[in-house]
This record gives sequence, C-alpha cells and structure tokens, in this order.
Amino acid sequence: MRPAAPRNPLALVIGTARSYTPYNPMKMKPRTITLILAALLAACALAQTPSATPVLKIDAAKPGPAVGLRYGLMTEEINFSYDGGLYAELVRNRAFKEDAKEPVHWSLVQLGGAAASMSLDPAQPLNAAVATSLKLTITQAGGKQRAGIANEGFWGIPVRPATRYRASFYAKASPEFKGPITLELVSTEDDTVHASAVIPEISGDWKRYEAVLTTTAESAPSAKNRLVLSAAANGTIWFSMVSLFPPTFNDRPNGNRPDIMRILADFKPAFLRFPGGNYLEGNTIETRFDWKKTIGDIAQRPGHMNDAWRYWSSDGMGLLEFLLWCEDLHMQPVLGVYAGYSLRQQRVKPGADLEPYVKDALDEIEYVTGSADTVWGARRAADGHAAPFQLEYVEIGNEDQFDREQGSYEGRFGQFFDAIKARYPAIKIISSTRASSRVPDVLDEHYYRRSEDEMASHSHDYDARPRTGPKVFVGEWATRVGAPTPNMSAALGDAAWMTNMERNSDLVIMSAYAPLFVNVNPGGMQWPTDLIGYSALSSYGSPAYYAQQMFNNYRGDVILPVTADGIPTRTWQMPAPGPRPGTPPPGAPAAGTSPPAQEVPTVSATRVPGGGMRYTTSFQQVPTIFWSATRDTKTGTVFLKIVNRAATPQPLRVEFSGLAAIDAKGQAVTLSASSPTDTNSIADPTKIVPVTSTVDGLGTSFTRTFPPYSLTVLQIGCK
Ligand code: AHR
Repeated sequence: MRPAAPRNPLALVIGTARSYTPYNPMKMKPRTITLILAALLAACALAQTPSATPVLKIDAAKPGPAVGLRYGLMTEEINFSYDGGLYAELVRNRAFKEDAKEPVHWSLVQLGGAAASMSLDPAQPLNAAVATSLKLTITQAGGKQRAGIANEGFWGIPVRPATRYRASFYAKASPEFKGPITLELVSTEDDTVHASAVIPEISGDWKRYEAVLTTTAESAPSAKNRLVLSAAANGTIWFSMVSLFPPTFNDRPNGNRPDIMRILADFKPAFLRFPGGNYLEGNTIETRFDWKKTIGDIAQRPGHMNDAWRYWSSDGMGLLEFLLWCEDLHMQPVLGVYAGYSLRQQRVKPGADLEPYVKDALDEIEYVTGSADTVWGARRAADGHAAPFQLEYVEIGNEDQFDREQGSYEGRFGQFFDAIKARYPAIKIISSTRASSRVPDVLDEHYYRRSEDEMASHSHDYDARPRTGPKVFVGEWATRVGAPTPNMSAALGDAAWMTNMERNSDLVIMSAYAPLFVNVNPGGMQWPTDLIGYSALSSYGSPAYYAQQMFNNYRGDVILPVTADGIPTRTWQMPAPGPRPGTPPPGAPAAGTSPPAQEVPTVSATRVPGGGMRYTTSFQQVPTIFWSATRDTKTGTVFLKIVNRAATPQPLRVEFSGLAAIDAKGQAVTLSASSPTDTNSIADPTKIVPVTSTVDGLGTSFTRTFPPYSLTVLQIGCK
C-alpha cells in the first residue's frame, strides 16, 4: 500500500495557498494563455506567503510502505573522474598514447649544459597494446650535466611529507648506455628534490623497473612538482608505461585516492552504476567502453580516446578496478553493458549483427560473477580476484531515448534481455528508456534541472505516478546550479527532489546523482555542476553532497503519510527549452534540448512561418517548503525532513497522530547557508556542512521555526 497521497498533491497543496489553478497551456488559445498569465502574475504578487503557520499532519497509525530507496553512485570518465581523479596514478600520458605526434605532458630536461632530444618512437613499441615509446637521446652529459624527461602530472604532482610513492617504468637502452637512471620528485617552484631513487642499470631489452620514492619530513604538501627521470651519460633510452602511485585506499596496487574514497565512504553508498553514461556508449562503436581491453596488466591495456568527453582514457580504471572499488566501499555493482548504440547515431542492427555484442555482455557478466572454473571467471582469478562478485542489476545501454531510429532500442533491448535472462535468470534488467516488447525489472530515468525552482516544481511528480509500471531507478539527476560544484541553491532543489523520491520509495528504489566528480583545475571540467570536487592535493563535498548524505544516513524503514496545509509558494516561470548548461559531446544529439520521453513539459511550442519555433512557457507556483517523514520501526524514532527554500525563517506546525508518547527532546541535523549562492570549494571545503544540535519542545503538536535556505532532519523519539 502507498502512503495516503492525494492524486495531484502539488495542485492540492498549492490550492490551499490560495493562488493556483492547474491548467494545461497546450490545450489553450494564445489569447487565453496571455490573459491567464496576466491574472496569475497579479495573483502571485498577493499570494507569496500565507499568513497562517503552515501545518504538517503526520499519521503514525497508518504507516505506508517500507522505505525501499537506496542511494548509490553513478560514475563515468568525465571531468577527469578517474585519470586525474579517483584513480591514483600520478603520471599523465604514461603510455605516450594521448597524442600520436607529441609526448604531451612530458618535457625534456637538460641540466648544467647537458644536451638531449626526445620524440615518440612507434618503431620501438612496448607491445601490441602500447604500440609506441618515448625515445630519449642524450648527446652531452656527465657529472652535473644531466638530461632526461619530466612529467607534469594531472595539474601537478601532489607531494606530502614522509610519504612513499611507488614508481615503475619499462625501458631499454642502446648498447653504449648502461645507466644509472635517477627518478626524482622535484618542485617546479624552486627545484627542491623531495624524493629520489636510482635504477643502477638499464638493459638492452624491454624490462620493467621499480623504485620507491620517499619524501622528506620537511616536504610541505604541494602539487607544484614534477617527476623527473634523468641520467648523466650519453646514449639512447626508450621509455614506456611510466607510472607513479602515492599510497592508495586499502593499499591496493593500481588503486584509488584515499581522500576521495573517504568522502564516498561517509556517504555510505549502496551501489555503483558504471561505466557510464556517455562514456559507456562513446561517440562511435569503436570508442565505446570495450571492457575486454580494460582488464589485466596495465602495460597490456591499450587505453582509448574518450571522445564522449574529449580526452584520453588510460583504462587504468578497468572492469576489475570498478569491482574492487565496490568491494572497498561495500557497494553493489550496477553494471551497464554496451547495447549497440553510440552517440553519433551509430547503431548495430538487432539480430546476427548484434550477437557479438550480446556475447560480450554475457562474457562480462561471467567475468564479474563466474566461478574460477568458467572461462571469464578464470580470467578474473588470473587478474587477482578469485572470488566471484555478486551482481543483481544489469543495465542495457544508456539513454537510448536519444537513438533516433524508431524501434532500434526495442529490438536491441529484447535481444539482450532474452540472452541475459536465459543464462542468468536471477539478474534484474534495467532498461535505459521505456521498452514495451519485454518488461524491464527497473526503468532508468534521468533528470537534469536548470534551476532550484525547476527541480522543486517536479518534486511531487512521483506522488501521482501510477504504480503499474516497472520500479524506477533515477540513475542520473541534479539541480544544475553552480560550477564546478553545486551551491546551496542546488542543494535545496536536490533536497526537495529527494523528499519526492523518499516519499515514493515504494516506486523509486534507487537513486544516483550525476556527475559524481570534477577536477576543478582549468580544463578539468566538461560538465558543470558535479557532486565532489578536487585538485591534485585536496578534495571536498559540495552542499548537494551533504544534503544527499543527510537523506541517506538519517531515515527510518517505513514511510509515514503526511498531509499539508498552508504551504507557501513562490512564482516561477519555466524557461524555454534550451541546451543543458553542459557542453554535449561534439556530434552527439543535443542532449537536453528535448525532455526525456517520460517528462511532460508545461510549455507550448508553435511553429513560426519561415521556420523555427516559438515557445510559451508557463508560470507556476512552486512550494518553498518540502517534507518527508519516515519511522524506524525498531526504535520508534521518526525522521522528519524539512526543506525551507525561502530567504526567511519559516515557522511550521507539526501535528502527530497515532503515537503513544513523544520525547520532548530530540535532535536536529541542519544544513543551511546565509545565501543560496554560498558554496564549498577547495579554498573553503567545509563552509556548508551539516550541524547537529539538541532540540526541545517536541510533542504531539509543536511549532518549530526552520532557518532560511535550509534542510533539517528532526529525529524525534516516539513510542
Ligand atoms: O552525467 C553526464 C551525462 O549526462 C551522462 O554521460 C549521460 O548519461 C547524460 O546525458
């Protein structure tokens, strides 16, 4: 049973605020619309805030369904999420494949009058996957004359005091060059050497060399450093796969940055949706996420051009690394499989043409879940993880509503669905858009909103959604206000949206914000408004991150029905359709210019003579207060979440029924700001964080005033 929700709660609630009549501009003549808009504007001026204290009535005697919603992470290689982000590798362009002509991010070192040259040398490949190398020819060196190569890292190389860095590289040398090679972490500000190690000899055949560089206790934290490999002898040396790792989370080789992992761990995510997003699809079939090329020894991974987001991917974060990331944070993997559609409208025909891609998906599932006596399970064991991973959900493709060929997804989805269900009947299938030939277990819906009010205006949508279709995974959503990371206004829009998901968590069973990460350095961001920001040295959670953390970490296990009266509103005009603030990948459909199929816009469009469209957008009254109530059936505690989007303190009366006793004292966790544009940043990472305080005066009915621009979770002890 669902909680007692009105059929159209938004209209009902706003109806009590005196000013709103639901209407559909699509069905009206332009003159009628103009008159109504004028009347609405006049009425709105009078009706911003009702004078009586708004009331929430919570009926604990009639608990609704269980809170089924799980918060997880959605991730892909965007905004330098892995390379230059979570994946801890510090060397940029380690395999020299980012650019076919130049060793980008590398520079030549010639110290004390030494002379040398460097260039890419495809004639001396490391192997078939890394089919090039960097050739360094030293013509004048000896004593203080040193020549070599230096890597700038991803916007610098972070150095911390007394820290161990694991370096490795492949090299071979001409007969006259014997070594040694010195590795150093050197300041780009004053040439201070923070750490060094020596490889005494380089052989004439490709060989892997390793060294540990330990920084001095005096090395102050700084990203203004580079990695230098140099020699004081003449000769030629070829380098490949030059790598440097700082300490990683759980000390995993080829692992993740601990600071970012700790931010994720504090959120307690239930699952990880990977590997995308547009990154899964690629602009072309060729540049999709081809999982078989992302496993095993990093020196055997070719990497690929992430043309969806326009930079090179080392594929150091490959299929097994995603799974280990899940293991480290106790998350369930939600595996997105490539489904034969890429962004530039390249698609594979269902039937025989699609079969190899279906087989790839089945192999991928076997790599994840198969025991070590299956072909791909054995491969996973050889890659270092003998135990199979649990896999409950597989998603077929990503945003296939953008495939412009009629019926294409139906055909492709059906073929994947049948093959996966036949081999793995327990796996639940998520469709990336609506499909009717097979019934998906779950439907993935994406909602990117351009303002707080726009997100808030949709924050009762699920109250009225019929429960007859599949369960919903809101697999990407965000209020896109603030860059690189969302500000408090965005967090308030998000909080309103999360009340919608939580209240309706019999239907909405999974949620993942997107994008998750951004490297805040210039050039690091392809898509503005990302949950967690970082530089080479530090990282922080945005206000939107903390709002989600509060929603996830403070809730009961059943939904309590709430009716509301006197909820204040403010006027909002929906903007005309336009591109998302993010830059769509070149050649991709202009994502966001039309709403996803499942949305009904309150906008009318008329074709104008001579071409083009005229849009009439509607005015709406959008509530400034949102709420959700849940109860922990074991302890009795009620978690009441209140979002006050207004600029003024908001008194609110809360009336409980169906409870034997209520503690007068409780706890409030509050996220608030003095301005909606306030935000967190590298410079001020904790400007806006949740604050816990004790509250009193609680009871069967009480009035409490909520601060401006705030999200509050009241924890109320009840019997
Ligand atoms: O999150 C950014 C992009 O938005 C994703 O890659 C894609 O799925 C969506 O269009």
